[in-house]
Amino acid sequence: MNPGYSDVLLGLQYGDEGKARVVDMIAGDYDVIARFNGGANAGHTIETEEGLKVALNQIPSGVFKEKTLLYIGSGCVVDLRTVLREVESLGTLGIVLKGRLVISPQAALVQPHHFLEDAATGGTIGTTRKGIGPAYADRASRMQGERLLHLRAGDLLENSAHVFDEMQANLEAWQAAHPAVVADVNVEEHRSAYARLNEILGSFIAADPAFLEKKVRDGARVLFEGAQSVLLDVVKGYVPYVTSSLTGAGAAYSGGDLSPHHHRKTIGVAKVLMSRVGHGPFVSEFGGAESEAYCMAKNPDNSSVYSRDLEKTYDIDALLKSSNPLEVGQALRVLSSEYGTVSARPRRVGSLDLPLLKMTAQLNGVDELFLTKCDLLREYSRTASGRMPVTVGYALNGVAIDHVPSTTETYSKVKGIVEEWDGFAEDVSGCRKSAELPAALQEFLNRVGEFTGAQIMGVGVGPKRDQVVVL
Ligand code: IMP
Repeated sequence: MNPGYSDVLLGLQYGDEGKARVVDMIAGDYDVIARFNGGANAGHTIETEEGLKVALNQIPSGVFKEKTLLYIGSGCVVDLRTVLREVESLGTLGIVLKGRLVISPQAALVQPHHFLEDAATGGTIGTTRKGIGPAYADRASRMQGERLLHLRAGDLLENSAHVFDEMQANLEAWQAAHPAVVADVNVEEHRSAYARLNEILGSFIAADPAFLEKKVRDGARVLFEGAQSVLLDVVKGYVPYVTSSLTGAGAAYSGGDLSPHHHRKTIGVAKVLMSRVGHGPFVSEFGGAESEAYCMAKNPDNSSVYSRDLEKTYDIDALLKSSNPLEVGQALRVLSSEYGTVSARPRRVGSLDLPLLKMTAQLNGVDELFLTKCDLLREYSRTASGRMPVTVGYALNGVAIDHVPSTTETYSKVKGIVEEWDGFAEDVSGCRKSAELPAALQEFLNRVGEFTGAQIMGVGVGPKRDQVVVL
C-alpha cells in the first residue's frame, strides 16, 4: 500500500472563520481528522443532515463520517469531563465513538486548578475560562518542588490513581495560595469522567506515541484541523491577546504527532466579514476602539451588556445607513449572527483586511483558500455608499507601510487604507456554481485571490452545509 498523506486546515484570522463547516464538507476525503493544538476553548458547531446542531469544544469535527478516526494530538490540552460530555451527547444522536476516538499519550490534562487560575487571571485578555493558558503554562513549568505540574494522558494508562492524587495535590496547593477563592471544581469529576470514558469507549488513549505515524505509513489520509486560528498564536499573534498554543501550519506536525514528510497541502479558511472575540488590535473593525469597548462591556453578573437579544431589536436599516461605523458594525453583527456560541457575547466585526490575509496565507503556505460568509457582502448595498469596504494597505503615523507590524503597541496604531469596491444586492444564498454569482462578487473574489496569491477553492454563501460554491 502507498503511504498516506496529511493536509492542514487553518483559520487565517482571529477564529470563528467557519473551519468546522469546511472540515465537514471535505471530511469524507480523509480517514483521520486530527487536532494538534488547544483544548476545549475551540467552538465548533456542526449540523447533521437532519438539521440537528452539535456544539463540540474538544473533539475534532468529522464526527458524522462514520468511518473517520478522530485523533487528539500531543499538542492539545484535554479536559476529560468535556470529552465525556461530548461523547455522551453524540451518543444520544446515535453517533458511537468507541474505536473512533484516540488521544495521544503525550497530550496534557487540564486540571481543576487550571480552571480556577484561568477564572482568576484570564479576564484582562478575555479568555474562554477553559483553563487553557494555565495548562500550557504548567506543561512548560513541569514541576514545582516535588509536585508534578504537567500530567499527561498516557500517565493515566500507567497509574491513574497516582495521576488523580497529583491533581489533588496541585489543586490543594493552588487553594492554599488563594484562600479567598471559593473553589467550584474538584478532582472527583475528572476521576469519574475517566472511569466512565473507559466504560463507554474502551481504550481511547494510545499507548504508542507513533500511533498516527504508523497509520499514515499504512495509507491513512489525515486532515489536521487547526483550532483558534493563526492570529491567536502564542508566539506570532498580538501578545498578550492570544491563546496559549501554537496555531500555525508547522505546529500541526509537532502537535499532531506526524512527520512533516507526509504534508500535502494547506487549506486556509477566512471570513469576508471579519470578527474577533476578546480584546486586542483589529485594524478593520467597524467603530475601532469604541466597538471594542462596546462589545466587551459586561453586566455586574459578567454577562454581556449588548446581548444578541438586545441588538436584534434595533432598526437594522437605520443602522446600516448610519455615518457612524460602530452602528454599521452593529447591524452587520445582527445580520451575520456574530455572537459567541456559548456566551452570546457580541463579536467585534470588521471588513476584510487583505494585508493581514496575505501575510497569514503566505506564512502558512496556504495552497487553497476557502472564503466564508460571502452571502453577507450584499448587506453593504444597504449602507449609505452601497459599496464594499476592503482594507488594502496599512499606514502608520500617516505614512503607508509595506508590512504588518509585529508588536501589539505599534499594530494598535495602524490605520487601514480602505478601498470601496463595487457592491451587489443579489441574494447569492441559492447559488451553487461560480457562473451564478453576480459579477461584482466574482470580481471581488478575483481581486482577493490576486492580492493574497492564494487559490480560492470555494466560497460559503449561507450557514447550511450545502450552501457552498466550489470554484
Ligand atoms: P484562551 O484560548 O481561552 O486562553 O483565550 C485566549 C484568547 O483567544 C481570547 O481572546 C479568546 O476569546 C480567544 N479564543 C480562544 N479560542 C477561540 C476560538 O476558538 N475562536 C475565537 N477566539 C478564541
